[in-house]
Amino acid sequence: MSWISVTSLPIPLSSSSSSSFPHLTKHRKPKRHHLCKVSCHTNHDVPNEEPKASHNRRNVLIGFGGLYGASTLADNPFAIAAPTSPDLKGCGLPELPEGVPPTKCCPPKYSNIIDFKFPRPRRTPRVRPAAQYVDDTYVAKYKKALSKMKALPPDDPRSFTQQANVHCAYCNDAYHQVGFPKIDYKVHDSWLFFPFHRWYLYFYERILGSLINDPDFSIPYWNWDNPYGGMVIPSIFTDTNSPLYDPRRNVDHQPPTLVNLDYNKNKDSSQSPKQQISNNLATMYKSVVSCGKIPSLFLGSPYRAGGEPGGAGSLETVPHTPVHVWTGDPRQPHREDLGVFYSAGRDPLFYAHHANVDRMWNIWKTLPRGKRRDFTDKDWLESIFYFYDENKNLVRVKVKDSCDTKKLGYVYKDVEIPWLGEKPKPRKPKSNAKAKKKVSFAESFGVSAARAAEATSVTFPLTLNSKVTTVVKRPKLSRSTEEKEEEEEVLVIDGIEFDMEKALKFDVFINDEDEKEIKPGNSEFAGSFVSVSHSMQSNKKVKTCLRLGITDLLEDLDAEDDDTIVVTLVPKYGGPVTIQDIKIEFATE
Ligand code: C2O
Repeated sequence: MSWISVTSLPIPLSSSSSSSFPHLTKHRKPKRHHLCKVSCHTNHDVPNEEPKASHNRRNVLIGFGGLYGASTLADNPFAIAAPTSPDLKGCGLPELPEGVPPTKCCPPKYSNIIDFKFPRPRRTPRVRPAAQYVDDTYVAKYKKALSKMKALPPDDPRSFTQQANVHCAYCNDAYHQVGFPKIDYKVHDSWLFFPFHRWYLYFYERILGSLINDPDFSIPYWNWDNPYGGMVIPSIFTDTNSPLYDPRRNVDHQPPTLVNLDYNKNKDSSQSPKQQISNNLATMYKSVVSCGKIPSLFLGSPYRAGGEPGGAGSLETVPHTPVHVWTGDPRQPHREDLGVFYSAGRDPLFYAHHANVDRMWNIWKTLPRGKRRDFTDKDWLESIFYFYDENKNLVRVKVKDSCDTKKLGYVYKDVEIPWLGEKPKPRKPKSNAKAKKKVSFAESFGVSAARAAEATSVTFPLTLNSKVTTVVKRPKLSRSTEEKEEEEEVLVIDGIEFDMEKALKFDVFINDEDEKEIKPGNSEFAGSFVSVSHSMQSNKKVKTCLRLGITDLLEDLDAEDDDTIVVTLVPKYGGPVTIQDIKIEFATE
């Protein structure tokens, strides 16, 4: 992959921050494997000075909060029971995809840091509108605010340049973790994903409001989950003369082309609009309803001081990431702007995309069944981020203050949520319980004997070059309704290792039939692994895992009494990728 030239960018790339950051040379990082969540894989490759640091820090932490969560750390000697925090002073050059010229994106210099205080309570919260429903007065306001933001000097922390830089710094490893100068700090692929982006938008919105002296100004959301005008790039962002426009988007994905929430890069679907809508609705159902029944499966897995992100939640994986990739411009080397992290914040559409992601967090908490609530783990609640506010103050915020948007002064405009009733259906109608008598392994899954034989012969670690089918044992059968509510059955694809420079996607099917196309609307489609490219170190490997909640799926497929399931992995783009193991676990949180 190569880089776009700096001169062609509409937004200046560099910040003027270097003076405040003496350590701008990025030290070469040791090659480390990324750590899966505790129950997945352990990082044995962390440089040896870390344990000492963690020890000290652990003692300090016992002082103010007690040693929490220690039991879950048994498998991970390097993560400590402590919240994460980015080390502001150590901000350095980000790690960028190959060919992108070195770019500074650290925040401008600061003299002091203030702690976040809630805005004064309002009688009624501000309402963030759905972008397809806004009126001309609203658009005029947003355009005016954004033009002013874009006109600020690039070193002003409120400028659009700096707002865009926030994503680059936080998402491309410009920071290390406080107390762990050799460990990159990350906000994706873990439980930090939702709170980080919520805070990011919160300050972006406050700055815009203050630039037009309208404290009520609220950013719009791209309602991509709603077929009533939401599943296209909102027209307010496509007017080429508007400050809301960004030329670096996929020209083939302009309205009226419908967004594909399960987008496989470079493969535009030949689906009819009707099929596309129904796939999108099923994708939403899966991501928010059936695969997100416990906090870690929806919000993401833990990320603790000294450790690595534990894995993305269902919504971050799909549709959040596919929407980035679908919108980014394939004429650019890395699908800039939205299709790659370092430049994503340069497209005003980014903030509308993430407002909808943020809205999903609110919706998720209102749904029945399962444990759809925020984590109570202090390592989550006390995690820290820093943002500049509308008065150019650098503000220290914590995850715990982001949980309730009403306290932050806003809500989302209610619109239809048509996917709530779009439960995927099995390709094959459920067998009549009485008639279900298993004759052979092959018959029980409706697969050919040849394929069944192939499935039982897969060995790990496996290299995924083409479709692979394997058999996975289920440790607990025929669980009661109470057991299922208490513990989610999780399919863990463990030790997924690939080159960080490359984007990657593979799909996971369960008990699919041979050679049949499985769509998001089929129960057999368990989920996907998706990653966008981020680093330039071409041999920097990521090791992570994918966790998919499958309790509902097994019910739908009438497979709750089966002692094995057939799992098929289908590479969609990127690679090579290796996989250590596929197994079933049970999770409560
Ligand atoms: Cu920080 Cu949508 O990514």
